[in-house]
Amino acid sequence: MASFLTSKCGPLKGSIKVPGDKSISHRSIMLGSIATGITKVSGFLEGEDSLATLNAFREMGVEIQRQGSNVTINGVGMHGLRESAKPLNLGNSGTSIRLMSGLLSAQSFDSELCGDESLSKRPMGRVIDPLCKMGADISGAESRPPLKIKGGKKLSSLKYTLPVASAQIKSCLLLAGLYADGETHIIENGTSRDHTERMLRGFGYKVSTSPGHVSILGGGALKACDIEVPSDISSSAFFMVAASIAKESDITLMAVNVNPTRTGVIDILRLMGANIESSNERLEAGELIADIRVQSSNLKGIKIPEHLVPLAIDEFPVIFIAASCAQGETVLTGAKELRVKESDRIQVMADGLASLGIRNEVLDDGIKIIGGEFKEQVAPIKSHHDHRISMSFAVASVRSDFEISIDGVDNVKTSFPNFVELANSIGMSITEVK
Ligand code: S3P
Repeated sequence: MASFLTSKCGPLKGSIKVPGDKSISHRSIMLGSIATGITKVSGFLEGEDSLATLNAFREMGVEIQRQGSNVTINGVGMHGLRESAKPLNLGNSGTSIRLMSGLLSAQSFDSELCGDESLSKRPMGRVIDPLCKMGADISGAESRPPLKIKGGKKLSSLKYTLPVASAQIKSCLLLAGLYADGETHIIENGTSRDHTERMLRGFGYKVSTSPGHVSILGGGALKACDIEVPSDISSSAFFMVAASIAKESDITLMAVNVNPTRTGVIDILRLMGANIESSNERLEAGELIADIRVQSSNLKGIKIPEHLVPLAIDEFPVIFIAASCAQGETVLTGAKELRVKESDRIQVMADGLASLGIRNEVLDDGIKIIGGEFKEQVAPIKSHHDHRISMSFAVASVRSDFEISIDGVDNVKTSFPNFVELANSIGMSITEVK
């Protein structure tokens, strides 16, 4: 089990480009595989999660060549996937298992989807229930992985209101809807990321959208296209917070995906008083990209508006670090989903913050954090093998006079393999101890 050991650092300076967006990388493999023709992907995230998706599609007979972050997918068409000889192991990746559940429920062959200890605990009823309503045969003991899917089912379309704003459920149903008889309608209270809708259009498939509603007619086909994956805003968020809370800092994050369904972290940090400027905005392969400059600021505590929660869902661990360095109290509510991510991110962050001397109160659906000074830790932080918990506490080091040690950081590789290298290149001081 690897650990991070951090030490005090000076101001953060420099320009960096974080790796490709995880959500878009997954989708590029899935849609490229079922398209007709050759899809070329550049900027693909070489993280364990997106590689798990890539390997799973290879297991299903898709020829995929990869050289670093350049990937070529020889699409097999809508009905060209083949049964895998073994269960598809999706590691730590919730996005892989939930999206693929939709796609594989519509195939002629059986599939089994499994993953690591954390994935095996995550709730899958949210995809199993609507897929069964469409006529799929998918199950898992206590609605958790491993999931078994029986092939050869003809899916029918569905009108479904999502129980939580979730791009994973929405995308799962859109992928199933590609094969369903008739038009599948998904209604969402709240806005979740829309990469599937955008990418489907890039592959020439019609998707109708209006606020809170998306629909797709089954029976069409996807045409291969080239995809340039932009830098992941979720990975960039660690440095947005780091540069905001470290003294005299000034960094630029290049070519970050600023899709409006993902920018909640920028909105929240700005409400807290952060100094974040966006420039050079442009559209690339259907996604909005910008360079983001972040300078130090004196943050203040806020009540986080609930409508921003789904737009910043993966960034809360590091937003809690920002709140710990802010003046006054920050209150988050309406974020129960954080309890069923790679770890219970409310409780795990609360425990870690407490061990650094930051007062907080756990709420059923959020947390209250009272800004203060990081104290010498009483025990190493336990990341519970959650990549974003590990990286968030590493960010705390820029405001700590003491060393911080974080246990169980191996899973940083799932989303951000060169995190330590990039962090240290702008002036942070993190050592990975194997
Ligand atoms: C993702 C959607 C989000 C997010 C996850 C990636 C996606 O999950 O937390 O890291 O790529 O669709 P939910 O849709 O379950 O909120």
